Amino acid sequence: MDAADMGRDLSKVLIPEEELQAKIKELASRIDEDYAGEDLLIVGVLKGAVMVMADLARALRLPVQMDWMAVSSYGAGTRSSGVVRVLKDLDTDIAGRHVLVVEDIIDSGLTLSWLVHNLKSRNPASVEICAALRKPDAIKVPIDVKYIGFDIPNEFVIGYGLDYAERYRNLPFIGTLAPHVYGAG
Ligand code: XMP
Ligand code: MG
Repeated sequence: MDAADMGRDLSKVLIPEEELQAKIKELASRIDEDYAGEDLLIVGVLKGAVMVMADLARALRLPVQMDWMAVSSYGAGTRSSGVVRVLKDLDTDIAGRHVLVVEDIIDSGLTLSWLVHNLKSRNPASVEICAALRKPDAIKVPIDVKYIGFDIPNEFVIGYGLDYAERYRNLPFIGTLAPHVYGAG
């Protein structure tokens, strides 16, 4: 697949690169203020949060530590099953620490609510969430998100870490897929 193929697979650009980058910087300065003087661990949820983590971490002025978890809730499909499996756990003991979970997207909220519950059982000083995107119309469980980039329509999106069958993660913007890609046209 070359760049032209990738272009044809897109139906539209939902959030351009510049808007994403500006929003990440804005979130980073709020986080800098809120956690000033604190020891913060940011936890990226693999694989989707890789781009947000990389950009957010570099925009922060705070000397944070970074760790990663990998969980699976989707398999290869596009629907959340609600069944979460831990594929990779933290390397860090978070007892007594301030933890900020960094996610690509909140869809049903099932994955994050499970994850926050799991992390809180390890007795951290605090657990908060930063997510680049949220689909308010898809939420199934209420979750408290301290830092949110954009609320978006209930459509499947790709790019900036988000994939369709492991493709399109490296697009620097958020887009929606053309129907022919997933067999609807
Ligand atoms: P839930 O429904 O548990 O889902 O909040 C969270 C995880 O599901 C993935 N996800 C998506 N991935 N485009 C994607 O490429 C989407 O529109 C989308 N919606 C949910 C994502 O990995 C997220 O962490
Ligand atoms: Mg994913």
